[in-house]
Amino acid sequence: MNITKIITKYTNSSQSNNNNATLEQNNAAQVIQKHTRIYLKKKGILSNNLLSKYKTLCIARPKELFKYMPRATTGATKVFLPKDFPKVIFKQSGKASGEIRLRIMQKVRDILTRQKSSCLIIPKAIRFGDFLVEDRLPINTDSFHNMALYISHTKLFDDAVREMTKLFSENYLTDLITYCSRQHLGHILGVGNSVRYDNLPLFIVESHGIKKGAIGLIDLEHLSERQDNTTLKTLVRIFPYHLNIIKQEADSLKMIYDNKELEEVATQGRKYLQLGYTDFLNWLQIKGISNNPKNWKFEINRNREKEFRDLIELELIKLNQGINDLYKRDSNYHAGSQISKYYLKEDIVHSARELSYKITPAILNDIVNVINESLISKIEKYSRKIVSIPDEATIVALRSLSIMRAKFFWSAGEILDETDLINHEKCSGFIEKNRIAEQLFHIIFEKLVDYREIFYYDPGYNSRSITFQSNWIRF
Ligand SMILES: Nc1ncnc2c1ncn2[C@@H]1O[C@H](COP(=O)(O)OP(=O)(O)OP(=O)(O)O)[C@@H](O)[C@H]1O
Ligand SMILES: [Mg+2]
Repeated sequence: MNITKIITKYTNSSQSNNNNATLEQNNAAQVIQKHTRIYLKKKGILSNNLLSKYKTLCIARPKELFKYMPRATTGATKVFLPKDFPKVIFKQSGKASGEIRLRIMQKVRDILTRQKSSCLIIPKAIRFGDFLVEDRLPINTDSFHNMALYISHTKLFDDAVREMTKLFSENYLTDLITYCSRQHLGHILGVGNSVRYDNLPLFIVESHGIKKGAIGLIDLEHLSERQDNTTLKTLVRIFPYHLNIIKQEADSLKMIYDNKELEEVATQGRKYLQLGYTDFLNWLQIKGISNNPKNWKFEINRNREKEFRDLIELELIKLNQGINDLYKRDSNYHAGSQISKYYLKEDIVHSARELSYKITPAILNDIVNVINESLISKIEKYSRKIVSIPDEATIVALRSLSIMRAKFFWSAGEILDETDLINHEKCSGFIEKNRIAEQLFHIIFEKLVDYREIFYYDPGYNSRSITFQSNWIRF
């Protein structure tokens, strides 16, 4: 059923018409409407001629429609992006939380009006039942998209960052930086956290031919009135190239900060943008990666197979002595881990060599197949959004894959489980064999990075739960 039919079905048919209205009545109505529009604009209340349709949908909540409606991929709240109403989003926040959100939005809007801010955009909104209907901002919450925007249009964001500093001198947002261990971008050495662009998306607006950087304040739920020493650090972490502007603004607002701390955070912020985005983009350009994802295929230079075999042979001999570096790398494995020893059958070197002949090609094949499978499925997902040639940020996003680690050494684990080159009583259990296989895969992968066949590999060991551990592979 199409959306118009659904709305008609749910709309009360007994709406009055105003055929009998006199000319004066119409004029009076126009004046009232004009004033109402001005009032609503000031109050940030969404108002347009589709309002009654939104209301019908939000109150009736037809399952058949919401079930198939496109949704935002970020954030905990369900946010619907109806195709038929491209100017708004439906945020299913619930009644109470919706009211709180509206109140905070109004509070911040009042501050911004007083501060004469023009680059920080709070969408106009209205609540119908469980839903907030909000202006849809022209944003993309993908991290790489926002990093690219900031790196390549830094100056355009001068005013927006000044305004953010001013806003933060009164109220600041506490959920813009995260230490969530599942965020691979947060694992960059020496940085250790990532930016929640899904709560602070950047975009560029153009008016009368002049461009300026804007920031969408779409999630104000975590607003704090208290100043603490993270207030300015948060801003510097997100906008490190604006360190001086933030400090100037903070000085004029008499905000207190520790200069050294801010410098350190700015270094982290710059590193995040450099390693998380710029270095990888440069690497892709040097490699001559085409901008047509349909031509992409991950391959490994097979001339190195003998070298990899030798590495695996040596590592197997080391593992046989009960030395598995995996246990050093991953704190999850420490507690109560029983490490097997001396399981290779005599002659040990011969067994290790024979095993390396089987395991090395299996791991290399798994790596190539798993990466290509994951790449194809990511490209397919994106291809719905990519209209023509993907931009640089999209290429960076497409070639940064998060893949469940176990997939890479599945075959190696099976070979270890079935081989008669090891004494299974001394190396019991599939888990232990998997850990051996994981270490073997790891040393090959590190070499692929050394040989620049892969740009970066984060084993994701910081993640608390082993089940969720996945490799971050950028190639
Ligand atoms: N006005 C808007 N215009 C466009 N997209 C929006 C808008 N509001 C929300 N979104 C999209 O929906 C996502 C979730 O919205 P929001 O951040 O408000 O939800 P949330 O549940 O409060 O998030 P969190 O998990 O941070 O608490 C955003 O990251 C963004 O992608
Ligand atoms: Mg959010």
